[in-house]
Amino acid sequence: MLSLPLELGLTARRLEEKDTAALQALCDACADYHVLIYGEPAGPGEARNLLTELPPGRTLEDKFFFGLFTPRPRLCGALDLVRDCREPGEWYLGLLLLEPGVRGKGLGEGILRAAEGWARAQGAWRIRLACAEQNTSGRRFWERHGYREDKPFPPRRMGTRETVLVELVHALE
Ligand SMILES: CC(C)(COP(=O)(O)OP(=O)(O)OC[C@H]1O[C@@H](n2cnc3c(N)ncnc32)[C@H](O)[C@@H]1OP(=O)(O)O)[C@@H](O)C(=O)NCCC(=O)NCCS
Repeated sequence: MLSLPLELGLTARRLEEKDTAALQALCDACADYHVLIYGEPAGPGEARNLLTELPPGRTLEDKFFFGLFTPRPRLCGALDLVRDCREPGEWYLGLLLLEPGVRGKGLGEGILRAAEGWARAQGAWRIRLACAEQNTSGRRFWERHGYREDKPFPPRRMGTRETVLVELVHALE
């Protein structure tokens, strides 16, 4: 189980079907992110999609979808990791999303470091992710933590807008 440093004041546990409504509320609270990436707020099925979407060739057993909780506890973020995506040991970070009120306080950094350490202990040696070209603050966050561009994809329709996804990779120490 992913454990987070005490000073973050957050706990992590894997989300299940019963958490769908709370996850949907998180997606709704992150409308800024959805509008930036998809041109529109999250649809009503977004949480269900997030909990079940998988890269080709992977199963739900390979997917670790964590909720990040305040002490109350209230869901304030989500982290999606899928193991052994394109090759053994290469994990895909499908999502790291914090609600607007808890961003910019160093929590993302703490969560990412803990997640990398946890994945490393499970046999990961590299993490890959896709960041939308227009998500400049997201990209700054990844680059600050050692993620580097691998390749851009051709523009694709995502929601109501055309988006270029850029894949970034980071080798774990
Ligand atoms: C990207 C994301 C996960 C980063 O998490 P975060 O907790 O906001 O990240 P951090 O606080 O560690 O760092 C982000 C900013 O806060 C600043 N910061 C870091 N620690 C800080 C602290 N203790 N006090 C104040 N500011 C701090 C950083 O300098 C950084 O600023 P910058 O982006 O303007 O350069 C989060 O902002 C988020 O969920 N964004 C929307 C979803 C998204 O874009 N996800 C990535 C998809 S590819």
